[in-house]
Amino acid sequence: PPLSATSADIAPTVTVTTNTTTNLPLRPIPGSYGIPFYQPLKDRFEYFYAPGGREEYFKSRAQKHQSTVFRANMPPGPFISNNPNVVVLLDAKSFPTLFDVSKVEKKDLFTGTYMPSTDLTGGHRVLSYLDPSEPKHAPLKNMVFFMLKSSIKRILPEFESTYNELFNDLESELAQKGKAFFNDAGEQAAFRFLGRTYLQTNPEETHIGKDGPKLISTWVLFNLGPLLRIGLPWFVEEPVLHTFRLPPALIKKNYNKLYDFFESFSSPIIQHAESLGISKDEAVHNILFTICFNTFGGIKILFPNTLKWIGRAGTNLHTQLAAEIRAAVKNYGGGKVTMAAMEHMPLMKSVVYECLRIEPPVALQYGKAKRDMTIESHDAVFKVKEGEMLFGYQPFATKDPRVFDRAEEFVPDRFVGDGEELLKYVTWSNGPETEGPTVGNKQCAGKDFVVLITRLFVVELFRRYDSFDIEVAASPLGAKVTLTSLKRARG
Ligand code: HEM
Repeated sequence: PPLSATSADIAPTVTVTTNTTTNLPLRPIPGSYGIPFYQPLKDRFEYFYAPGGREEYFKSRAQKHQSTVFRANMPPGPFISNNPNVVVLLDAKSFPTLFDVSKVEKKDLFTGTYMPSTDLTGGHRVLSYLDPSEPKHAPLKNMVFFMLKSSIKRILPEFESTYNELFNDLESELAQKGKAFFNDAGEQAAFRFLGRTYLQTNPEETHIGKDGPKLISTWVLFNLGPLLRIGLPWFVEEPVLHTFRLPPALIKKNYNKLYDFFESFSSPIIQHAESLGISKDEAVHNILFTICFNTFGGIKILFPNTLKWIGRAGTNLHTQLAAEIRAAVKNYGGGKVTMAAMEHMPLMKSVVYECLRIEPPVALQYGKAKRDMTIESHDAVFKVKEGEMLFGYQPFATKDPRVFDRAEEFVPDRFVGDGEELLKYVTWSNGPETEGPTVGNKQCAGKDFVVLITRLFVVELFRRYDSFDIEVAASPLGAKVTLTSLKRARG
């Protein structure tokens, strides 16, 4: 499919309508916020350190209240956020309220009930924190669409060469050590690919060298620390990450290194932004954020997870994918990976959607009620008041058993054929998979790019290998994946 870049000037669309002639009972929203200060702290402990972690935090409350909509506190709470109180939405029917920008305001809540200091983004409120009603939302989103559109022709060739470099490296590590850790090499490859594709520059050949992923990850930690469990003892994590903000000054030097890189190599994008009335400085901070936070941050989670789910599914699926992918490349691409060839890989496409469904890389979404309104779950109607913070835990919406059979299972061919009807419930991009980003909504600008490169990842993997084995461990963002075997394609 064409990149969504082309939808840049489509008028704003309202994506969700609520059935107002419902027969569902009106129910007060169950749950309470407890004693201020004390309860949010207690809840934060439970969320981060209790067995079952955040999954159990939501599941146990849904069970207790017999409802997929209820009130609860969300971390970080004191002293980082002033108000941790949210209305939680956990089913596929209530969750899309968060996409409807006529109902919710999306200002300064990209990271939830607190906003990181703008000192981490050059003093600017970058695009992800802007509501579509704000004047800079449209030109900045158009700048991102421009960046994506200008890079279309480079995506396929740069992906193929970069990820073949990655697989070569992983194979030699595997040969030497008997196993190969995917994440570090994968992140190097991701940043190299993004530089080559978006900026026609290999960052490793600039002053950044191989430091890109490390510079980005520490800066992301300064932004997201209040929401992360990084595996240190609680008495370290609580004061250092969850109670006070890390001082932005500590990361300034790292950030400036990244800034200099993007300033030097983004000239066409900067010029386009200037033509849309954005200053150079604001453009560069936004380009940096989009490539490092939105894109790199997303891939950092999504690719290891994709490898995990496909790895766990086992040899049978690997054999089918390899056969389908190789046949389509041969018969419809003349031996090359093309967009047309990929359209003849229904199982591969379904597998990618299933990875995005079963573990949406960005799990937490927020929106503030713009007015008094009602929200429907499958079972009841609830009233919320203007100004209340709505929060959705996406994995529960995309694993809603009222929408998906075997919702907790990885079903590789779920979206093949008639299964495509279910794509409207795949919402990793902050909107239905059947809709696209516009300057009037808050759907991920890179939606189609992400689907495309994840397809390419699976395609390149199975052009090269018949099968592979992995070991998986947890990490603060996504999974840690170690390859224990890579079986080269037998002809
Ligand atoms: C917004 C996910 C890659 C650009 C979002 C949101 C999500 C998301 C969930 C909405 C956040 C919210 O408002 O609650 C992801 C994931 C990615 C990814 C999981 C990769 C795996 C990209 C790429 C680009 C991009 C490749 C562009 C090059 C943006 C922008 C926004 C956004 C600009 C803000 C949109 C707006 O303000 O209207 N993304 N994204 N993202 N994403 Fe992505």
